[in-house]
Amino acid sequence: MDIKEKNLRKLSYGLYLIGAMDGERPCGCIVNTVFQVTSENPIIATSINKNNYTWELVQKNGRFSVSILSEKTRKEVIQKLGFVSGKDHDKYEGIDYRMQDGLPILNEKCCGALICKVVSVTETPTHMVVLASVEDAFDIADTVPMTYRYYHEVIRGGAPKNAPSYIAPEKEDTSNKQTSAQRWVCDVCGYVYEGDLTQEPDDYTCPLCGVNKTHFIKETKEETKMAETERWVCDVCGYVYEGDLTQEPDDYVCPLCGVDKSHFTKE
Ligand SMILES: Cc1cc2nc3c(=O)[nH]c(=O)nc-3n(C[C@H](O)[C@H](O)[C@H](O)COP(=O)(O)O)c2cc1C
Repeated sequence: MDIKEKNLRKLSYGLYLIGAMDGERPCGCIVNTVFQVTSENPIIATSINKNNYTWELVQKNGRFSVSILSEKTRKEVIQKLGFVSGKDHDKYEGIDYRMQDGLPILNEKCCGALICKVVSVTETPTHMVVLASVEDAFDIADTVPMTYRYYHEVIRGGAPKNAPSYIAPEKEDTSNKQTSAQRWVCDVCGYVYEGDLTQEPDDYTCPLCGVNKTHFIKETKEETKMAETERWVCDVCGYVYEGDLTQEPDDYVCPLCGVDKSHFTKE
């Protein structure tokens, strides 16, 4: 990894839901790029992939919402809204949202929301960089905003079910007697407990979603090895491929943003 790539990886991001409407149907997608660019009459910027259906809708309607995800946002919310397209999915099914000023905003475990109006757009080869004025804002919950780092390191997000490396957590592997490097995965939010969970008191609860110990599934040795070995990060959208990327065919593309293998950097 050269210095440019190294330094780019040090930039900080959050996690947001861009909400948009397809006629009467709520749509939108997860982005990690939303930031404020002016303070008076505030303008924000976001970067939306040209292939995302959300871009089509934002372009058509000129308005969108931004829901600010929190550390308590369920991983499933990110999976539903950030890994499939609104073109052919009802992405809000099972998600607690509400309509605000004609746009969908998240209700559940979300820090707050903005209603934005597009003021200008700059085209890059893969993404449209959208500048928008903030027309309205809503308080939802007093929670800590989720950073991209938190999403990767605590929630261990990045590898959805349709990712090539995904291995579903299995029930405890009783043949696995190792006492160090144990990993227990919360089946509700994906939080990973490292260590021997059986040593925690009976009233231990998941620090992310609050469920009790019975929701934790011990990873098999194979899964732990996968998690501890290779992670390749897409330098365009931040998607994390877990496993040996070199084993993928030459025409492998990032399942999120569609760039080729050369855009992946091994962590
Ligand atoms: C953690 C995470 C971060 C993402 N960041 C961005 C982003 O900054 N810009 C973008 O265009 N897509 C981003 N995506 C991908 C879109 O959310 C994804 O492609 C989505 O399925 C597009 O849905 P749509 O076709 O309904 O718009 C991100 C996804 C995840 C899970």
